[in-house]
Amino acid sequence: MSRGLVLGIETSCDETAASVVSHGTDVLSSVVSSQVDLHARYGGVVPEVASRAHVELLTPVIAQALVEAGVEPSELDAIAATYGPGLIGSLLVGVSSAKALSLVWGVPYVAVNHLEAHLYAAFLEEPGLELPLVVLLVSGGHTQLVVMEGHGVYRVLGQTVDDAAGEAYDKVARYLGLGYPGGPILDRLAMDGTASIDFPRPMIHSGYDFSFSGLKTSVINHVRKHPDVAVEDVAASFQEAVVEVLVTKARRAAADVGAKGICIGGGVAANSRLREAVLDACVADGLQGFVPSRSLCTDNAAMVASVGWYRLQSDGASPLDSGANPNLRLPVVD
Ligand code: KG4
Ligand code: ZN
Repeated sequence: MSRGLVLGIETSCDETAASVVSHGTDVLSSVVSSQVDLHARYGGVVPEVASRAHVELLTPVIAQALVEAGVEPSELDAIAATYGPGLIGSLLVGVSSAKALSLVWGVPYVAVNHLEAHLYAAFLEEPGLELPLVVLLVSGGHTQLVVMEGHGVYRVLGQTVDDAAGEAYDKVARYLGLGYPGGPILDRLAMDGTASIDFPRPMIHSGYDFSFSGLKTSVINHVRKHPDVAVEDVAASFQEAVVEVLVTKARRAAADVGAKGICIGGGVAANSRLREAVLDACVADGLQGFVPSRSLCTDNAAMVASVGWYRLQSDGASPLDSGANPNLRLPVVD
């Protein structure tokens, strides 16, 4: 009987990752080689540096994922790779490698949407999550409020009109001279601060869209005016504003669409305060709340392998002449 083994490959941004997952839920290995140190000195990801690093790192990362899983290439049922959205040069490294290995090993290739992969991180650990489900997808590149009505059936209720939540974290941290990526650094500092500064909660009462650019400017203006302010308090106050907006809208969405629960995905879903606030809100509203492990929130290939397995069942293999799409969106129903 097939072990339902999928090798996932993720190279959309600055993590080079490979993973073997069985039947979409059983993670046999998940290797993530972060390029953070390479990009930190520039204060952000440099696309050309990222693609070159993927070329060097991907083969050993794939080899390690197979060895750790104890799986031979001949046992694989599919090779899945992220084909978008992301940095085009980086995406092409993963897609080209997956297609080459597919030909050499005689294994089907499955193209995976990175946003769908972030949504599925929750199902990797909790396959029984009840639908419809509101998913808050918050990463460095995206902030979307999605209703998952069925597997592969999504509706995007709202999204950011300017900066993504993670981007706001990264920009505030850069302004404060704290380093890159800003999210984990501000998260840590906020633990030692108090949310005593009343930053704005942009668009909190209107619709499902988000805006974080003005909030970022308020933080910068406050620090300019009060240069002696404790950075821990700035971090805690900024974080409280971001989290309050995200959670308020997710709760309202869940009530409006009659969702059974709320879950979160994407790098910002690793945020301590957001995780706590989502779970508290779900308890208060009688909803099922789920926050995936931190390692499944930030970019990884286990979520790619998982979606690869489900897409293989529903749509079959992807053609080998399909490419990468840096502007890919979530497939939605009308
Ligand atoms: O999902 P991800 O790894 O890559 C993208 O697809 O963008 O997300 C990266 C983003 C970065 O902006 C980073 O600062 C943010 O996620 N992030 C966090 C935390 N950990 C990562 N933001 C807030 N708190 C965290 N603990
Ligand atoms: Zn991501």
